[in-house]
Amino acid sequence: MEGSKECPRLMIVSDLDNTMVDHHDPENISLLRFGALWEADYRHDSLLVFSTGRSPTLYKELRKEKPMLTPDITIMSVGTEITYGDAMVPDKGWEEWLNQGWDRSIVFEESAKTPHLRLQAETEQRPHKVSFYIEKEHAPEVINILSKRLGERQLDVKIIYSGGIDLDILPQGAGKGQALAYLLKKFNSEGKSPLNTLVCGDSGNDAELFSVADVYGVMVSNAQEELLQWHAENAKNNPKILHASERCAAGIIQAMQHFNLNPNVSPRDIVDYSQTTPKNFSLGHEIVEFHLLCEKWRRAEVEDSSDIFDRLKCVLDPNCILVHPWGVEENLFTGIDALRQCYGDQKGKNFRIWIDKIRPTKLASDIWLVKFDKWELIEKERRCCLTSALLKEKPGAPNALMWLHIHETWLSGCGSSSNLCCSI
Ligand code: GLC
Ligand code: MG
Repeated sequence: MEGSKECPRLMIVSDLDNTMVDHHDPENISLLRFGALWEADYRHDSLLVFSTGRSPTLYKELRKEKPMLTPDITIMSVGTEITYGDAMVPDKGWEEWLNQGWDRSIVFEESAKTPHLRLQAETEQRPHKVSFYIEKEHAPEVINILSKRLGERQLDVKIIYSGGIDLDILPQGAGKGQALAYLLKKFNSEGKSPLNTLVCGDSGNDAELFSVADVYGVMVSNAQEELLQWHAENAKNNPKILHASERCAAGIIQAMQHFNLNPNVSPRDIVDYSQTTPKNFSLGHEIVEFHLLCEKWRRAEVEDSSDIFDRLKCVLDPNCILVHPWGVEENLFTGIDALRQCYGDQKGKNFRIWIDKIRPTKLASDIWLVKFDKWELIEKERRCCLTSALLKEKPGAPNALMWLHIHETWLSGCGSSSNLCCSI
């Protein structure tokens, strides 16, 4: 979306823990399904926004643990910090707005006098967020006392209870819903309002996302009691809010289907790779599907047949060069035959490939330079290649494209082993 003059086709604003990320799924199946769908069909003209309770420190930890995409916008610390892009450039205007009438030292003073509250880790105490733990049975009473005392000190706060344990105190103007409303207003003033917005959440701090005007919403199947209760009391008859029957990111995809936000079938769910019917021109699809097929081939999740292997080979120009991240050049058209022998070498193992941040540039009427991050997980080890590829339009090919040249470079800190099978 960078530099685009168009309105985003879809903006997804999603919570992370137990919404986008399923902590009960060590294989991250639905997260990977969502990621493939986003890169194939939405990255080029839509906006991905993560809205999390986590501080920047804990957010960055999660990104190292899970196969997450890079969002266009990151809202952290329960809607108190907004940053843009990969570089995470903070929104100063939002900070200034939150400073008005806010004094966190008063929050510390008053909460110290209140029983049952246990302060969360230092990393989670932020300029506009003070956070505690409190057990469910004490929460309603303590929230009452706190809001009365802070009111008496002329402090206008918002107190949010999430996950049956976390208590956050924020400036009244903060929160996930307010942060989203702020962004929507900003986009509107720039003439770039998203055509559709889908908000996704599971717990108390997500409730206000669902009251933002004109948005679709999905409460994932595993939503917490406090969010379901909020919904029952405040938004029961809103047809734009779905309580999914699927968990986490699978619930987000389900909501896209339910609300007719198309496309909504993840390339990871495609079973027929024989490509009898070529699809339309799509850079996103070609880049995602090519790598996905390499993964499925090595995991033996597709049939061991020439038909399927040809799907990979038929999109390579006979002179296609792959520059490996360890500096070796190879003709990929002939070199890829080595991959045939690797069928099933990762069967039953924790092996995944996923693509992040696909960004194309048109170089000529039928030639594209596409940059993307290619991630690989092999058992517990993760590594990333910054990849540049040249692709040329080719009517009749699976996504009407063929690969001319690929150049991979290790992202700093990533591995350095050399093996053709692992490098495609
Ligand atoms: C995240 C934050 C925590 C906050 C909770 C609920 O877990 O790390 O500080 O209380 O979200 O908003
Ligand atoms: Mg959550």
